[in-house]
Amino acid sequence: MIPERGLVLLIGAAGSGKSTFARKHFNATEIVSSDALRAAVSDDESDQSASADAFELLRSIATKRLSRGRLTVIDATNVQRTARRSLVALAARNSAPTAAIVLNLPLEACLARNRSRPARPVGPEVVEKQVADLVASLPELKTEGFKNVYIIDNTMDIDSAAVLRQPTDV
Ligand code: CTP
Ligand code: MG
Repeated sequence: MIPERGLVLLIGAAGSGKSTFARKHFNATEIVSSDALRAAVSDDESDQSASADAFELLRSIATKRLSRGRLTVIDATNVQRTARRSLVALAARNSAPTAAIVLNLPLEACLARNRSRPARPVGPEVVEKQVADLVASLPELKTEGFKNVYIIDNTMDIDSAAVLRQPTDV
């Protein structure tokens, strides 16, 4: 169950399948993607020098959507606590509940998928760090202010997951 007027954070390393999951379960306009916004400002979704601008836009779009009561899905790795904390705070300022959907795949699965991608977004050492950050985050996620936390640990469960929207009390 995810709150229908809330903020959803997808959490997962590069290659864990966040964008694929987002496309399957959400409308294009509901998804705010750090990669897409890097591309919007630099024509290159993996240009890390565009990250600050991309995240400024990401926060701005999320704020405007949540203030209108529109479901907003953040497609970014969100493996670091500071990144999650600022998004949960942004949602709270807009009276929106927050849910986390964690794609907790093993490092080897993420690396294999990244190897098979034509445009390799990040190197293996970056993926390794992201998976380590995510694993370290798992025990504390429930204390970070999310209304719901869903941790999915394998590709079969990711593929069969259903996303239900829970009407928000007004
Ligand atoms: N993929 C797959 N089977 C799935 C999900 C993803 O084969 N069930 C493949 C995708 O086709 C893609 C790769 O795995 O080539 C990574 O998936 P993607 O959704 O792009 O992963 P992200 O988590 O969005 O990666 P990034 O953080 O780099 O955007
Ligand atoms: Mg992606």
